Amino acid sequence: MLESVPAGVADQPAAEVTGRDKRALVSAVECTFDSLFVLSYDQGERSQLDALYRKAKTKQWDVDLDIDWSIGGQIDRARDPNNALNRLHIPAGGVFSRLSDEQLAELGHASAAWTINQFLHTEQGALTCAAKLVQSAPWVDAKFYASTQVMDEARHMEAYARYVKEKMEWEFPISTHLSGLLDDVVRDSRWDFTYLGMQVVIEGLALAAFGLQYKLSPDPLLKQITRYVIADEARHVAFGVLSLREAYADLTAAELRERQEFCFEAVLRMRNRYLAEEVWEQLDLPVDECTALVNAGPVQKEYRRALFSAVVPNLKKLGLLDFGDGWLRTKFGELGVLGFEDGDDTSAEYPRMDLDHAPWDVVRYQHY
Ligand SMILES: [Fe+2]
Ligand SMILES: [Fe+2]
Repeated sequence: MLESVPAGVADQPAAEVTGRDKRALVSAVECTFDSLFVLSYDQGERSQLDALYRKAKTKQWDVDLDIDWSIGGQIDRARDPNNALNRLHIPAGGVFSRLSDEQLAELGHASAAWTINQFLHTEQGALTCAAKLVQSAPWVDAKFYASTQVMDEARHMEAYARYVKEKMEWEFPISTHLSGLLDDVVRDSRWDFTYLGMQVVIEGLALAAFGLQYKLSPDPLLKQITRYVIADEARHVAFGVLSLREAYADLTAAELRERQEFCFEAVLRMRNRYLAEEVWEQLDLPVDECTALVNAGPVQKEYRRALFSAVVPNLKKLGLLDFGDGWLRTKFGELGVLGFEDGDDTSAEYPRMDLDHAPWDVVRYQHY
């Protein structure tokens, strides 16, 4: 049975979405957009997209063959109080200072599982958006590239689904904030909003989150999976930046402002998902107090700020940061993330993130 999950907005408390909504195994998002048949097959007309496609064809990997599933044992590591990721996701003080060692260990397991489950749900959102771009993108080079992203996202979904089932043994529903954003990105009939919402904002924030996961995770298996995924995600973000640079050259001021506002709403929703309401609910902890502590915790604040490291330079490259009266620059200034604006944008950086530059003790890449 199909059930529609309410979209939710940035300031809507998760409590407004019912438990039944969260447990629905299938949710439907109604969308209408034009499927474009491009009958000019001049491949390479957009040379940078063509180069991305050619790279993607040679960088495919296999979840069964290239990942060593015999290593890792995440539950014990997640329960370890010295796991750096626990300090990142679990604030100090308040209710947390009253938990027993056993409860803290359980919380470590829950927060690690929640994080990977949200990655998994995001991968399905990316799969859907990439498939939509295959249909709606107006250039043949974009259709070729988006086709490779469909396979990439299926592979990411496969890897994280297996990791959740075999290594975490704990499933979480999708975050209300994330599902609302994914619904809006998928539903919008304008093809560039799919790119902007998914490739630039969601995957840009995810790229930073994957980077921190890769750096801090004590699990060699999760490190390995994450490094493979990062290589693909960097291409996906570059795909968005390269495509939109051309598409945004001719937009009117009103159209650009609409895109600035969409980006800001999207980053707020992605940031708010780290309030992790689902974790506190499942462990019967006071949700309001926990989210307030996450919101105010200095480590958690710094983590949410660091997530913007790829998004800000990419939006600057697209001209959206400074367009018009600099509305988005002002908003990002209020969030304290303008320090990232001079970093490399992902269309320049992605070749350095591919598997050729990965440490070989982590990534074996033996399939080819
Ligand atoms: Fe992905
Ligand atoms: Fe992706």
